[in-house]
Amino acid sequence: MINKEQLNSNIPKHVAIIMDGNGRWAKKKGLFRAVGHENGTKAVREAVESAAEIGIKYLTLYAFSTENWNRPKLEVETLMRLLVSSLKKEIKTLQKNNIRLNAIGNLQALPEKARKELLEVIEKTKDNDHMTLSLALSYGSREELIKTIQEISIKVKNNVLSPHLINEAVINKHLYTKSLPDVDLLIRTSGEQRISNFLLWQIAYAELYFTEILWPDFKKTDLFEAILNYQQRERRFGKTSEQLS
Ligand code: FPP
Repeated sequence: MINKEQLNSNIPKHVAIIMDGNGRWAKKKGLFRAVGHENGTKAVREAVESAAEIGIKYLTLYAFSTENWNRPKLEVETLMRLLVSSLKKEIKTLQKNNIRLNAIGNLQALPEKARKELLEVIEKTKDNDHMTLSLALSYGSREELIKTIQEISIKVKNNVLSPHLINEAVINKHLYTKSLPDVDLLIRTSGEQRISNFLLWQIAYAELYFTEILWPDFKKTDLFEAILNYQQRERRFGKTSEQLS
């Protein structure tokens, strides 16, 4: 069991997590998938509190992808219901831990009730500054990039922006993640080793960490283990080891 004393001061600023394996967790126990998602929300709470405890400044969770709309209607409803009930319940935890809630994705696609609750919690926590928790909801990286290209094209067409001035900063400014730094560490649970349309632009230099643990079983010590693993890596950003030292 890893504890926080084993970590050094090199805490990644932005950690993103693909929370995968709720369904398999439930199946293994002979339970409905919905029970897996319910237990997944408990793991969300533990991950948020643990991240805040060790000073991660930005935590981004992949809660619902654009592709997740294709799941059975009942499962989509369960996930939206859990989102609303978690927001209602966890506002206290967010305030207590001085956490600002943020959301990335096509929020217009969310059911009215979920969007309203979400925007309310975002508003209530907007001055909190210990950590920013971003929920990716109806999020897809390709959709985000298409939206970005469309918005930039309109500016070019209207002579507000010259094509040769388009650079990384301009693109960053049009992404859902405009208020967030690049991802330092991307974690995916459940043993799958893929990115699934999550933050494709933002993970350009992220360290990737895959664990077999199913999301509902992902505990504080597992987050710390991922951070410890990150701290043992050398991030070169294209340079040589010698240049870094
Ligand atoms: C993946 O498990 C998880 C999701 C599709 C959504 C994550 C949702 C939660 C943790 C609960 C609600 C979240 C919030 C923020 C309140 P899966 O269903 O893909 O698992 P499987 O691959 O084993 O079927």
